[in-house]
Amino acid sequence: MEERIISARTRSDDDWQEVSLRPRTLDEYIGQDKLKENLQVFICAAKERGDSLDHVLLYGPPGLGKTTLAAIIAAELGVNLRATSGPAIERPGDLAAILTNLAPYDVLFIDEIHRLHRTVEEVLYPAMEDFALDIIIGKGPSARSLRLDLPPFTLIGATTRAGALSSPLRDRFGVVSRLEFYREEELQEIVRRAARILQVPIDEEGSRQIASAARGTPRVANRLLKRVRDFAQIKADNEITGDVARLALQMLEVDSLGLDEVDRFLLRTMVEKFSGGPVGLDTLAAAISEERETIEDIFEPYLMQIGFLQRTPRGRIVTQLACRHLGVTFPESAQQNSLW
Ligand code: ADE
Repeated sequence: MEERIISARTRSDDDWQEVSLRPRTLDEYIGQDKLKENLQVFICAAKERGDSLDHVLLYGPPGLGKTTLAAIIAAELGVNLRATSGPAIERPGDLAAILTNLAPYDVLFIDEIHRLHRTVEEVLYPAMEDFALDIIIGKGPSARSLRLDLPPFTLIGATTRAGALSSPLRDRFGVVSRLEFYREEELQEIVRRAARILQVPIDEEGSRQIASAARGTPRVANRLLKRVRDFAQIKADNEITGDVARLALQMLEVDSLGLDEVDRFLLRTMVEKFSGGPVGLDTLAAAISEERETIEDIFEPYLMQIGFLQRTPRGRIVTQLACRHLGVTFPESAQQNSLW
């Protein structure tokens, strides 16, 4: 499938520019107020005591700023950030090499931590708990275990699915935080900040249009801003006004709620092929030729957030609100299944 403009996943065109749009301090970071406030306290306290910050697990849908926050935490602590991801660490030895190369108090960021191999995960337990590496020497009855000390460090794990983490791993994080979708006012502020950095004039209505189509996700907001800027440059006077933004979003086939043709196809398929549901995840995935994980991680969180889709024990169901938005009749049978 072609990459979607509203995808919360990182795309190839999120490139170097997005890096410069990223906030570098907690003060610059907009939204997630509760988490930010807590982190400020934890960081200050750890620094005052001369301790490493407790391990932090960040979970929630993609594009909400987990990697950005990890970089900010390292910067606020005044230490290095070593970033990697679950699938990139193939063997226990790879992780041991990373851990032994950390400087004291460094931050190790592991994205998609739920995808760590079990054997690698086991190396993490003593590392997180005792800052130690247990190495087995030899095989069979003569095998011995040797303990190596590690420098104190902070592990920041990120995952879209906290439920997929084993409980021994989850239990070793002192701070576990869920990132929430951003409110429209916050996204508008993020868009205005990014427009300032990109030096594009934008008016109130222009930033509001982009914010409302951004699916609660800063990564999407910044990407839409860049595409709308192209339209402003070529078709208007460089300035992003409400009209320019509306026209650009229309050309990108993104509607006022940030749904694209794939979201609409999913919802329509539920209505037309499954009478609005309930329909099982695998059946739905097959019907729209997507992977079940893509539906669970990318489509559903936002569609549920805006009240267009519900998860029930018997499967997914479409809501009346979604049908109204699509301009289709709400199936009678779905009415009886609705939780509302
Ligand atoms: N750019 C992307 N996410 C951001 C955020 N949370 N605050 C400010 N700028 C951002």
